[in-house]
Amino acid sequence: MSINYSERIPNNVNLASDRTLQRALEHWQPQFLDWWQEMGPSDFADKDIYLRTAIGVDVEGWASYGEVKMPDYRWGIFLADFDPNRTIGFGDMAGQPVWQQVPGEFRAQFRRLIVTQGDTEPASVEQQRLLGLTCPSLYDLRNLFQVNVEEGRHLWAMVYLLHAYFGRDGREEAEELLTRHSGDADKPRILGTFNEPIGDWLSFFCFTYFTDRDGKYQLKSLAESAFDPLARTCRFMLTEEAHHMFVGETGLSRVIRRTLELMSALGTEDSTAIRLAGGIDFPLLQRYLNFWFSSSLDLFGSEMSSNAATTFANGIKGRPDETSYADHLCTNATLDLVTPDGEQGIRTETVPYRNAMNEIARQAYVRDCEMGLKRWNLIIKRAGYATTLTLPSTRFGRHIGVWAGISTDLQGNRVSAETAAQGQTHWLPSAEDRTYVKSLMQRVTAPGKMAGWLAPPDRGINNLPVAYEYVRL
Ligand SMILES: [Fe+2]
Ligand SMILES: [Fe+2]
Repeated sequence: MSINYSERIPNNVNLASDRTLQRALEHWQPQFLDWWQEMGPSDFADKDIYLRTAIGVDVEGWASYGEVKMPDYRWGIFLADFDPNRTIGFGDMAGQPVWQQVPGEFRAQFRRLIVTQGDTEPASVEQQRLLGLTCPSLYDLRNLFQVNVEEGRHLWAMVYLLHAYFGRDGREEAEELLTRHSGDADKPRILGTFNEPIGDWLSFFCFTYFTDRDGKYQLKSLAESAFDPLARTCRFMLTEEAHHMFVGETGLSRVIRRTLELMSALGTEDSTAIRLAGGIDFPLLQRYLNFWFSSSLDLFGSEMSSNAATTFANGIKGRPDETSYADHLCTNATLDLVTPDGEQGIRTETVPYRNAMNEIARQAYVRDCEMGLKRWNLIIKRAGYATTLTLPSTRFGRHIGVWAGISTDLQGNRVSAETAAQGQTHWLPSAEDRTYVKSLMQRVTAPGKMAGWLAPPDRGINNLPVAYEYVRL
């Protein structure tokens, strides 16, 4: 179904036929715009930006591109096409028709899941609020704003579900989504990573690579849900989300390519020399990867979770890519988990597979993260260098789950608290690293020009040249 742009809120859910819902959402819309003005990207509200806007939900030709001022962006409600034959794909009710309404007994769980997902969307916009001031190029500035407006739309997607299916509680939750703020001492965002500041572009690229990818896996799980409107909403969000991870992956590739150029020009891999030349040395990059990867792992929740078992059993949340598995019931299967044992040891625990659903999703996520590392290491190898970038062990640096608060090295070996404290400066970004990265954040706005720490992209957006004026300043 095509998207109706003649209405105040563009949508493909025939909003006009439900006046009560339409009025409720039209009441929320100005609050959203106020939030955008106050907490969204600073300073660029009156600039024309080359943005894509969703115009349909078919895989082919779903978006159009053009110059738009961000406050005029057409945020709306877009669900993937309805399939009248869709059945529940997993859990105790597998094979039964999917639900078009939320069953009363699962209402609280669905509401919590939708609110938690919804909370991350505006949170990331808030985290990235000031990045435009230090953009490394117009191309990157445009990509930042593209990500921001789409996260804004993802908020709309969740707010639609709250308004349409959760009555008064849903409307209250939708208001709350605009009153919690990233990093706020009194009313922070729900999940830890979404309260971490993203004060520099290296963090932005790491965030879009690692944290938006967590988003992809959460959306994939929800896209399997038996609650059909949620599944369809998330399925379409995944289309937009792919670009966010593209920004992260190519951003980090470009950092690496630029560092390699400097290493070759200087004839050294020495970090100090690279920094004197204004590049991002690989040990520093590795520490940023360690930080954002570990932090994003926590977003999947605890390795063992009775809640995860229940949501799977009840068809609420499936595994990412549920259809790729043979067994959709998982009643007898088990999973071996490595857990801490006593003061220094580890042991393997066999747990019911359904209780390990968070871990199953996390493992799929880790495999996906590794693909980028392989590509980056190939770039480094082809340039004739032996450095390899790696992901730390999933036991390292955890704040949630069985490894929370347990001291390990990057390989996941248990170490004393003292060794861990000493290791931090090599394992995670130090104050000095952050200060150095901040010092590189100088605004570059001549079309086609790039900051000195970043190589240009291979190509521009939508077949336009890299030197296109993506943001008219
Ligand atoms: Fe999103
Ligand atoms: Fe995203």
